[in-house]
Amino acid sequence: MSDPPLLDIQDLVIRYEKRKGAVCAVEGLNLRLERGKTLGFVGETGAGKTTAALGIMRLLPEPPGKIVSGRILFNGENLLDKSEDEMRSIRGGKIAMIFQDPMTSLNPVATIGDQITEMISLHSDLSRRDSIRKASDMLDLVGIRRERAGDYPHQLSGGMKQRVVIAIALACSPELLIADEPTTALDVTIQAQVLDLMKGLKEAFSTSLLMISHDLGIVAEFCDDTAIMYAGRVVEYASTAELFGNPIHPYTRGLFGSIPSITGGKGDLRTIPGLTPDASNLPPGCPFQPRCDIAGPECSKEAPRPTEVKFGHYCLCHLNRGENQP
Ligand SMILES: Nc1ncnc2c1ncn2[C@@H]1O[C@H](COP(=O)(O)OP(=O)(O)OP(=O)(O)O)[C@@H](O)[C@H]1O
Ligand SMILES: [Mg+2]
Repeated sequence: MSDPPLLDIQDLVIRYEKRKGAVCAVEGLNLRLERGKTLGFVGETGAGKTTAALGIMRLLPEPPGKIVSGRILFNGENLLDKSEDEMRSIRGGKIAMIFQDPMTSLNPVATIGDQITEMISLHSDLSRRDSIRKASDMLDLVGIRRERAGDYPHQLSGGMKQRVVIAIALACSPELLIADEPTTALDVTIQAQVLDLMKGLKEAFSTSLLMISHDLGIVAEFCDDTAIMYAGRVVEYASTAELFGNPIHPYTRGLFGSIPSITGGKGDLRTIPGLTPDASNLPPGCPFQPRCDIAGPECSKEAPRPTEVKFGHYCLCHLNRGENQP
């Protein structure tokens, strides 16, 4: 039997339950990430990207957040069945996450060297002295001189802080790295440096990467596969080359503008006319239907199901079901 995929999310439903009603942040999410691969996770603000990532890490603020149903299989084991203790050892060890704002992950009152050392000590059998040495090696790897191990986060620039976060995330050679907009808070030149660094390290450590981004250029450059998310659902999924070369879902086509191109797609998502959906009050049928320029009568009646339009290319649209679909 072949190995299970590294990450296999099945029918994941996550809500935020508020007094005024539930926010359906993730609704029937299906995603798969094979070992050693990079999956781009793209969508407008509020699409549910961070919620899905926090769900995988079991770091949702609960309440109001709640994983209602579904499975998150990591190496074939459902993370939703793990105890908090088991999750604590998986987090940082086998799965690490980089947040958009480095200060979310850094402790302002501990030196950067201590923070990397602590992560290594927590997840390995190395002695204190070897953990400290490895922490210094990690600083070197991310391009920060090891003499700065005694610095506190506030003594570093934004780009350097994000490098420290990357050092912490990779210190234990995780099998899966989830990067949630890792460079959005940085200025453009630093963004490119940090991305290059991540790319090199990802290859060196053979880490699989779930890359959450607004930037189609970054996704095109980085990711083997791309999932486009809208209103808590993956509306289109394919290899990056296929998705950029042949976008099918009206939402994806809108994001790419009229001339999608794998090389010319640099830049932020194009703005699509209409309002981003209110996750606490989604329209009936297909959630994209009010903004869709090809919507037909069935689109407001029934929610579409994902269909494999071409081999390995999935789309969630009543009007794009491929030739052989019912
Ligand atoms: N703690 C919370 N309590 C209530 N609702 C929340 C909470 N966090 C997120 N939401 C809601 O869940 C939905 C998904 O939010 P999420 O932050 O996952 O989106 P996102 O795709 O990461 O957006 P962005 O691109 O802005 O980071 C939104 O409607 C948001 O308002
Ligand atoms: Mg987010």
